[in-house]
Amino acid sequence: MTPLLTLRDVVVEFPAVSGIKALLTPPEKRRVRALDGVSLDVQAGETLAVVGESGSGKTTLARAINGLVPLAGGQVTFDGLALHERPDWHTVRRRVAMMFQDPVGSLSPRKTVRDLVLEPFVIHGIKLADRQAKAVQLLADAGLGPDFLNRYPHQLSGGQARRVGVARALALTPTLVLADEPTAGLDVSVQGEILNLMNRIKTDHGLTTLIITHNLNILRHIADRIAVMYLGRIVEVGPVERLLTAPAHPYTRALMAANPEPDPTARRERIVLKGETPALNARPTGCEFHPRCPIARPDCATRVPLLEPATTGGRVACHYPLTKEPAPA
Ligand SMILES: Nc1ncnc2c1ncn2[C@@H]1O[C@H](COP(=O)(O)OP(=O)(O)O)[C@@H](O)[C@H]1O
Ligand SMILES: [Mg+2]
Repeated sequence: MTPLLTLRDVVVEFPAVSGIKALLTPPEKRRVRALDGVSLDVQAGETLAVVGESGSGKTTLARAINGLVPLAGGQVTFDGLALHERPDWHTVRRRVAMMFQDPVGSLSPRKTVRDLVLEPFVIHGIKLADRQAKAVQLLADAGLGPDFLNRYPHQLSGGQARRVGVARALALTPTLVLADEPTAGLDVSVQGEILNLMNRIKTDHGLTTLIITHNLNILRHIADRIAVMYLGRIVEVGPVERLLTAPAHPYTRALMAANPEPDPTARRERIVLKGETPALNARPTGCEFHPRCPIARPDCATRVPLLEPATTGGRVACHYPLTKEPAPA
């Protein structure tokens, strides 16, 4: 089966320094690679979860797919369309919806909920026979009553703002949804509600979803596969069950063990792992995880591991992948 979405060797670069400092920096150090050769297939109807510490490139990956950041290299194909060949983004974004990381901050503060959920139709020049009915229906699908129509974003809780984000994302019945940390910053009970909503989106609408999350409940109950990112690269990808119970990459094991504390004040889900993530302009040699890896051997500092089939299924970029279930910590 041809995948709905294919990424091949995708590279995204950002300026590392600016202004006068850039003039004093050698050209090869002026830019950093936030995505460094990402290849990935997403099948139609599949929910792929992307995990990794803060700064590993998850948001950049979602933004690269729908053209919010330019590619410095590689190919992205969506339903036969070559997105790396300057497509008509307006048309593409009708079919690829984005749920942004910060639920309240991503909604224009001066618009009412009615205008916010109808905005996709305005942007795409779609005339609606009955705007009111459409707004009510979209809100209802996202679990909000009509009493929310006239509210402004600052009058919404984090969970309600998330629901408005869901209503907006589903407004144009997209094919692919990119959801960036949909449960971050929410109380555990509200996380559960959003979880149910995401589950319904999956079953009722049969949507293909790329969901950035560290929420183990999302991983367990919604995701089909997990892709693990480190410093802008995929270090392991495979079926959820396998990555949760028998990760092949030591980084995956550490991530899954560092179950993040639910923190309602955080806009991001935090993962606490031993050691610092290296800066993108100071990538370690060999396997980039080796300075933090508990099982690194001398050659890990010199040889770059490729993403290769793991004996347990999926693919892993590690010279000495774990083969058994990890011992309890
Ligand atoms: N617009 C930008 N300009 C410069 N650097 C950026 C920009 N967006 C992201 N980055 C850098 O790219 C890296 C990946 O960021 P991001 O994709 O937001 O990571 P994540 O979502 O996994 O936390 C980080 O080092 C971040 O500082
Ligand atoms: Mg992010």
